[in-house]
This record gives sequence, C-alpha cells and structure tokens, in this order.
Amino acid sequence: MLLQAQNLRSGYGEMEILHGVSMTLEEREMVVLIGPNGAGKSTLIKTIFGLLRPTEGRILFRDTDITGFHPRDLVILGLGYVPQTNNTFPTLSVLENLEMGAITRRISPLPHPWNRGPDRTQSRMMNDAEIRERATETIEMFPNLQPKLREPAGSLSGGEQQMVALAKSMMLDPEVLLIDEPSAGLAPKLVDTVFSKIVEINEGGTGIVMVEQNAKKALAIADRGYVLETGRNRFAGTGEWLLHNADVGKLYLGGQA
Ligand SMILES: Nc1ncnc2c1ncn2[C@@H]1O[C@H](COP(=O)(O)OP(=O)(O)OP(=O)(O)O)[C@@H](O)[C@H]1O
Ligand SMILES: [Mg+2]
Repeated sequence: MLLQAQNLRSGYGEMEILHGVSMTLEEREMVVLIGPNGAGKSTLIKTIFGLLRPTEGRILFRDTDITGFHPRDLVILGLGYVPQTNNTFPTLSVLENLEMGAITRRISPLPHPWNRGPDRTQSRMMNDAEIRERATETIEMFPNLQPKLREPAGSLSGGEQQMVALAKSMMLDPEVLLIDEPSAGLAPKLVDTVFSKIVEINEGGTGIVMVEQNAKKALAIADRGYVLETGRNRFAGTGEWLLHNADVGKLYLGGQA
C-alpha cells in the first residue's frame, strides 16, 4: 500500500465536512475521486496533504503515519499536490515556476528554519545550479512549454498553465501525486491532452490520486475510483465497474451508465 486514508473526519473550523472517509492507493495506481460539488473531494486531498488536520482517522504513506505532518515535510517524503486553483505563480516565468517546485530542497544562502533539523541534512538538498538542471530535465517531459520558458506563467493559456502546474509538481519526482481537477475550465481536446500527460506521469511510476468533474473520461483512464457524497464514501470500485454501474451512471455520470 502506497497511501491510505482511514476514516477521516475533517473540515474547516467547527464545520465538519468529511464524516469518516477512507481510501487507498496501491503502488503505481491511478485512483480517481468523483462526486457532486461540495462532496468533500478537495477537502479530502487537502487533508491528506496536511493543509487540514483531521479530527479523527489516520493517513499512512507506506508504513509511516503521516497524520498531521506539515506539507513541507510531506513533499520531502515524496508527496506532491496540484491544487484546484491558483496552482502557478502567474508573475513568475515558466522556468521560475518549475524551480519553485524544488524550493523545499533548496540550500538557502541565508539561515532559514527549513535548513535546520535532522531531516534536512538527510534529504537530498540542492543548490541553485542543481535545481536549474532538474528544471531542464523536467521540461523535457513537457515539450510544449519549451518555447515559453521565459514567459510569465500567467500569460499562458489555461491548458498550458495546467501543464506548468504539473511540471512544477514533477520537479521532485514524487511517489504520490494528488491532483485536484486538472481539467477544470479546459476545452474537451485540451482535457485529453492533460489526461494523457497524467497517464504518462503515472506510467513513469508515480501513484496518482485525481479529483475530477469530468468523471467518465477520468474513470476510463483510472485503475480505481471512489464516489464521495456529502463527506462520505458512496461507491468504490475499478474505473471500469464504476463506469458501467447503473446507479453510479444515473446519479453521477449524467444518466448514462
Ligand atoms: N476554506 C473553506 N472554508 C470553509 N468551508 C469550506 C472551505 N472550502 C470548502 N468549504 C466547504 O466544504 C464543503 C466541501 O468542499 P470541497 O471543496 O471539499 O468540495 P468538492 O467536492 O471539492 O467540490 P467541487 O467539485 O465544487 O470542487 C463545501 O460545502 C464548501 O463550502
Ligand atoms: Mg473541489
């Protein structure tokens, strides 16, 4: 088991949104989370990535209990996260955005709290030249971005910006990538382009948990899926099974199973 969320209760302040949600991700798997708006999909991803602290339940990464870990430490352990919105730095160039993907490993020229502690000395820290080299390597996976390296990320098209966000998240070659609605706002053809890139990342060995509104297309490329509703698990199964389940089809896939 690569990643496991057990019976998570989580939310915002006093407001509980997840009322005991569980999911698993096996080595090299792609798992898709679907469900209506407000079901708690983003909340689940944010809780796994340490942006929200669960009031109950556990999160395991391999055999490590990572419940309550800071996102910075999770990145060092091998998790990556592509948020649903604001997932690039619009005023920074594409290249600088990629470099930011390795910021947690940067050897700072200034004394900085991140540089302290035993974890920091053991992890593979990188100097600026190494970060630049890694960006050059990473960009090879995203040839469409090559001519735009010096342009501000905010000036790129929606599809290109999603590629920048993905490229940034690949800088540290994560073992698990959490991706929140990568196809939001994209034309159908671009959805396919972004999905193929995600499949390529998955085939490279990265386990993926992806939230998607574009449920049919997402289930078609996923190994397994979970349907969430009002902060609870509703259905779970292989992508294939969920795609052809009559209830799931009627309730969550626009009527056609
Ligand atoms: N920062 C926040 N503060 C307070 N409540 C929030 C916050 N973010 C989300 N919520 C509430 O939590 C609930 C679940 O939101 P969440 O973003 O997890 O849903 P979702 O399944 O990702 O929906 P969508 O498909 O629209 O992205 C919603 O009722 C939402 O209003
Ligand atoms: Mg969401």
